[in-house]
Amino acid sequence: MKLAACLIASAFANRRYEEDKVIALDNLSVGQITTLKTLNRVMNFNFWSPESVDELVLGGTADIQVSRFFANEFEEVFRANDLDYKVSIQNLQEQIDIETMFSRNNGKAHDLLKYNDYDTIKAYSQTFDGYFTYGTSFEGRDLFGVKVGSGSKVVSVDCGIHAREWISPAYCQWFMNEVRDGQFNQYLNDVTFVIMPSINPDGYVNTWNGDRMWRKNRNTGYGACVGVDLNRNYDANHAGPGASDRPCSDTYHGPSAFSEPESKAQQDHMKQYIDDGSLKAFLTFHSYSQLIIFPYSYDYTSQAPNKAELNSVGQEMSAAIRAVHRQSYEAGQGTDLLYAAAGGSDDWAYDAMLAAGNDGPLSYTFELRDEGRYGFLLPANQIQPNCEEIDAAMHVVINYVIENK
Ligand code: ARG
Ligand code: ZN
Repeated sequence: MKLAACLIASAFANRRYEEDKVIALDNLSVGQITTLKTLNRVMNFNFWSPESVDELVLGGTADIQVSRFFANEFEEVFRANDLDYKVSIQNLQEQIDIETMFSRNNGKAHDLLKYNDYDTIKAYSQTFDGYFTYGTSFEGRDLFGVKVGSGSKVVSVDCGIHAREWISPAYCQWFMNEVRDGQFNQYLNDVTFVIMPSINPDGYVNTWNGDRMWRKNRNTGYGACVGVDLNRNYDANHAGPGASDRPCSDTYHGPSAFSEPESKAQQDHMKQYIDDGSLKAFLTFHSYSQLIIFPYSYDYTSQAPNKAELNSVGQEMSAAIRAVHRQSYEAGQGTDLLYAAAGGSDDWAYDAMLAAGNDGPLSYTFELRDEGRYGFLLPANQIQPNCEEIDAAMHVVINYVIENK
């Protein structure tokens, strides 16, 4: 009886990361990369940025969570080989506990300046006239959004495709509020906003009640390991570079494009706006690393036909963001800024708009704050400044749509 109770308790207990460290590396050298690859086979890192060992690039940066069992050995190997590294988080569990105490909206009313749980985000969304559901997640949760505005030009805004990136749904909620009751209200005659604040609800719930560092959805249909990386599951050179065919990988692309209920439902819902040409801009929010990414990311050779336009609007957004709180967000094509990562929703939406006859689609992936100090555990006191600077970028892209699309 005691044992059973204990087993049940542990099955529901949060996964803990006592004494895990996060290691930060920059200007990656051949030596650092080969050492990381070797150590990873034994130490099985949890990659924060980039999201897998295959995405490490020479000269790039990396943030890597090292489990407590290997943290000392990791540092010894790096020091013995004269390789640079920095410890950005000494004790991951401590950071998670601080977040739980001060940044979560623990059972209180909806709060734009805290991280809200799935039920609270949904209840808040239901206060909007344009609330809609567009499907059901793997575990049976509602996929939902709000549609606001009467304009003929549709701007799609989605958040939370990756579960652990909590600032992303926080921005969607902030934006929804500003659309209905604030500074974006002025656009509602010209634009219709389709906003989906939590497009991976099972993953998000798991980061609240199970594993704070979870990224994927919660599909259990692919063997011993759980979850598909939804941002590798869209029909955009599916299973191409930067996506893994191993279900245990954090970048597992799934058995086929749109195999997952969450990605498939978004495709089905957006089809009407793509086919009738009303969809002008597709904006999807992630964290972290402060970037504005445009297509393509799905291979190393494709160039967007309106790359110059995507770039100039991207640079303008970056400048507008900088003017608010002096934060730097680099704008560029995915494969120039990062690495190839096929199957992303940005590239899918872009190509779908092109195929429907839109000759200048806008599609951007935003990587919100920060640049690695807290990473996914961005304290809630940065929600407001982060949202304020992103608002500036939103004004740029919305005005661009109104004037040019
Ligand atoms: N960090 C994001 C991801 O890996 C970047 C997405 C950029 N777009 C893309 N299609 N890979 O999902
Ligand atoms: Zn992400």
